[in-house]
Amino acid sequence: MITSLPCERLLLGVSGSIHAVHLPQYLTQLRREFAQEIRVIMTDTATRMISPSIVRTYVEEPVFTDLMGTDAIPSPHIRLTRWAQLFAILPATAGILAKAAHGIADDLLSTAILASPQPVVFGPAMNPSMWEKPAVQRNVEQLRKDGHYLLPMQEITSVTTGEFDTGLGPVPETALTHLWHVLMRRMRNEYWEEAIATPAAAPAAVKSLPLLTAGRAPAPAATE
Ligand SMILES: Cc1cc2nc3c(=O)[nH]c(=O)nc-3n(C[C@H](O)[C@H](O)[C@H](O)COP(=O)(O)O)c2cc1C
Repeated sequence: MITSLPCERLLLGVSGSIHAVHLPQYLTQLRREFAQEIRVIMTDTATRMISPSIVRTYVEEPVFTDLMGTDAIPSPHIRLTRWAQLFAILPATAGILAKAAHGIADDLLSTAILASPQPVVFGPAMNPSMWEKPAVQRNVEQLRKDGHYLLPMQEITSVTTGEFDTGLGPVPETALTHLWHVLMRRMRNEYWEEAIATPAAAPAAVKSLPLLTAGRAPAPAATE
């Protein structure tokens, strides 16, 4: 498929934050501007925040929730993470950050994070008093040390308590810029050494053209 979307295969993990209700907005933007193909893993709690059948309407394949997988994709923690060009957890609860920081694998999403052959992008979302807890900050620090990437959080309005409250989480616009950054950095790391090791050769057709000086039009051909 010829497309200008930079990420060929995005694996999106969704954990049980109230911010999962913004998933349709994320998926619309990711499909429009970032990823050619998206597969989604949801935790049990995430499926109670937003129905997998709603999420399903935004992606081409059924949402993965079961560690045992499906007939078509058994052991999804291995298959999906090998398939993915980029693996992002959006939103990431305090719980999934803690599991990932400690290598706990007790459901499909946490097992996939542990099985992932490459670092993962986390988009934490939670109440400020959860975020400020030393335990959460220790886990974030550990994840960074382990090479994972954490999206910045912004102050957003949350309705978790039944009234307007302050929440912290990623927002689609900035999350997308950071996903671009991570993908480009990874591609650069993968291809840069090879690219600079091979001397650049101008295509034959270009070599024969006269050089143009910037800003100056080529001299008109002489006429008899
Ligand atoms: C309405 C509601 C909203 C919640 N929002 C968040 C949240 O934004 N961030 C968070 O870390 N936990 C939040 N929680 C708590 C998590 O759902 C809980 O810790 C759960 O065990 C997370 O499971 P998971 O990480 O496996 O999805 C919320 C709970 C409820 C009931």
